[in-house]
Amino acid sequence: MTTTSIHGMWSSRLAFVLAATGSAVGLGNIWRFPYTAGEYGGGAFVIVYILCVAAIGIPIMMAEIMLGRRGRQSPINTMRTLAEREGASPLWQLLGWMGILSGFLILSFYSVIAGWTLAYVMRAAGGLFTGIDAAGSEAVFSALVGDAERLLAWHTIFMVITVIVVARGVAGGLEKAVRVLMPALFLLLIIMVLYAAQAGDFASGAAYLFQPDFRELRDNAGEAILSAMGQAFFSLSLGMGAIMIYGSYLNSQDSIMQNTIIIAVMDTLVAVLAGLAIFPIVFANGLEPGSGPGLIFQTLPIAFGQMPLGQFFGSVFFVLLVFAAWTSAISLLEPLVAWLVENRGFSRVRAAILGGVAVWLLGIACLLSLNEWSGFKVFGMGILDLFDYVTANVLLPLGGVLIAVFAGWVLSRSASAAELRIASEGLYQVWLVLIRFIAPLAVILVFAHAIGIF
Ligand code: PFF
Repeated sequence: MTTTSIHGMWSSRLAFVLAATGSAVGLGNIWRFPYTAGEYGGGAFVIVYILCVAAIGIPIMMAEIMLGRRGRQSPINTMRTLAEREGASPLWQLLGWMGILSGFLILSFYSVIAGWTLAYVMRAAGGLFTGIDAAGSEAVFSALVGDAERLLAWHTIFMVITVIVVARGVAGGLEKAVRVLMPALFLLLIIMVLYAAQAGDFASGAAYLFQPDFRELRDNAGEAILSAMGQAFFSLSLGMGAIMIYGSYLNSQDSIMQNTIIIAVMDTLVAVLAGLAIFPIVFANGLEPGSGPGLIFQTLPIAFGQMPLGQFFGSVFFVLLVFAAWTSAISLLEPLVAWLVENRGFSRVRAAILGGVAVWLLGIACLLSLNEWSGFKVFGMGILDLFDYVTANVLLPLGGVLIAVFAGWVLSRSASAAELRIASEGLYQVWLVLIRFIAPLAVILVFAHAIGIF
């Protein structure tokens, strides 16, 4: 069996943890988590979200890393090889294909939102937010989102920087960048929370996030629970092969369980900190927590506009957010690029450019859906919202169920035990129960509930 990947290996266990955390922590935590929690009323959503991370996300992340490390190839070929070895159907490689599709759709809109972040670096640095109020901030946001050419420019820049890193190989520059940037993002979020605690309506913000009011869920429980679960998959980068391919570059000796727990805890912490930085400002300024995808872009500028050194903190914050998005975007493109290298004999550079151009084109449709094509709706959603909804709430959880079924039922127990090498037999049993029964059943029940089966 191969013990290394042809695409390279992480230089250390820390490098893997940093890269996987870099993949997990991104716009999903700071942009998507607060606005989705806001749309579903806060506390109860947050509890369901955390339950999903613990009972579904952690076991599936372990499974993804485990499968990746056992296969040591792109998700498509990993699934093909592992299925073959277990005497299972070659159709399992469709799981890899579905992941490529998900990554494609996610990156196309992710890059557009990352473009907003780039634009906000400029606005913050230029002092545009100084003394801004809620109406002013809203106007700045609408002006950006309504301007297709500007969005196209930022989307293009973001895709170019993503392609550059992927072309050079993820193990190279990524490790070094994440080592500095992750702690910096953490620190700045803590500064933002401290500011929100002092200048915002912290009591209301914290209560909103942590005091579950389950009546909130009652009107729309199916959708809310589905979205909390979808958010868990999206935020942890699960269900599409991103974590699988990162696992394929991990040393055989490293502990999968320990690493997974670190990644999941960091990811959740960043999301909660983002919520604590944003909601006190939302309430202090009479804004609407459920106002949708513009939430952080409409609230944080107000805080930066008032706080001491706000111009500095504002620009640094958006720069760090760009980096967080960048390290996630890289992992969205990597499975496709690895496959092009393995099966089509492309050089990494050519593969990255080809994948990047295809995603870039689809991204144009996403950004146009915010302005020129705003009248065009599918199921009541524009293209960007549709891609966001379908990937997070349908494709990723579906990919997750298939990963769980493969890891729990198709892969032999001796193989999973040998790969996970959990010291305590009891803990291995817990994982096995979670991956065989709890995670797949939970996802299926949530789907069934959301489409109104019960
Ligand atoms: N986890 C990333 C975020 O929270 O921003 C987004 C993401 C990356 C989703 C990679 C899925 C993925 F495979």
